[in-house]
Amino acid sequence: MPVFAQEGYVEVAEVCKVYRNGTREAVEAVSSLSFAVPRGQFVAVLGPSGCGKSTLLMMVGGLEPVTAGRITVDGTPMTGPRTSIGVMFQDATLLPWKSALDNVLFPIRVLKRPLDAYRETAQALLERVGLDGFEHKKPHELSGGMRQRVAICRALVYDPELLLMDEPFSALDAISRDEMNELLLDLWQQYTKTALFVTHSIREAVFLADRVLVMTRRPATIVEDLAVPFPRPRAVTIGETRQFNEICGHLRECIEGNRDRERTRRPKPDLVRRELVG
Ligand SMILES: Nc1ncnc2c1ncn2[C@@H]1O[C@H](COP(=O)(O)OP(=O)(O)O)[C@@H](O)[C@H]1O
Ligand SMILES: [Mg+2]
Repeated sequence: MPVFAQEGYVEVAEVCKVYRNGTREAVEAVSSLSFAVPRGQFVAVLGPSGCGKSTLLMMVGGLEPVTAGRITVDGTPMTGPRTSIGVMFQDATLLPWKSALDNVLFPIRVLKRPLDAYRETAQALLERVGLDGFEHKKPHELSGGMRQRVAICRALVYDPELLLMDEPFSALDAISRDEMNELLLDLWQQYTKTALFVTHSIREAVFLADRVLVMTRRPATIVEDLAVPFPRPRAVTIGETRQFNEICGHLRECIEGNRDRERTRRPKPDLVRRELVG
């Protein structure tokens, strides 16, 4: 039951990616991938490790060229990084010698915009993510979860239209991860950008996204495109509902079904599950 118009703010059309590293064998990471994301939609991209999720995100962000096909954002083909796109990676990648506040302001410095005009925004964002009083701390004085909060503020400070997130919480412990999911859900309800969120956690995808794309193993294509039926604002408790768990079960089947076709012997189900929800 798609609730969004079909025309895409982000359009990925017949995209292929082959990595050729010197004399080594070519790796086809992505094969003929097509989908469109309407403005304002939060899309989670789910798939096993090594299936090409990061490659996809890098291509959409203009950080990696496509081998074939076409990617447009807001009607313009991606040829390099853009200031209308914010990115967040698994590692917070903060500058260790700069304070939390200066790290949040770093993109402004790079973009050569006036720092003073953004200081209040940066401060407000840090407060919004619960880092009031920590703005002058250096990254090593912050926990992993706090560092990722700084990274979220840094991605939002110049008000990008599109947010690309590559497993941003997968290095965190389970409790911090739940907290970050709640925070992102709240932030989303306030800022509403277009987002592509890569994860290998099924529950995280369903909790956060309007729509979940499931990618197959390499070379990756899309095997499922599912509209998440929960209205916003969402409460954490949706995770306990039958509908939520049924959707997760369906997505797990999509991934496992695909996995089974690729393997001659089926792995033990509990091992599969642990690997997928990790
Ligand atoms: N820079 C690169 N050079 C060569 N191969 C790469 C490069 N980046 C990724 N790959 C390969 O492309 C495939 C997809 O990788 P990646 O996009 O990182 O997957 P995922 O994010 O889903 O784990 C993998 O087989 C990986 O080894
Ligand atoms: Mg990756």
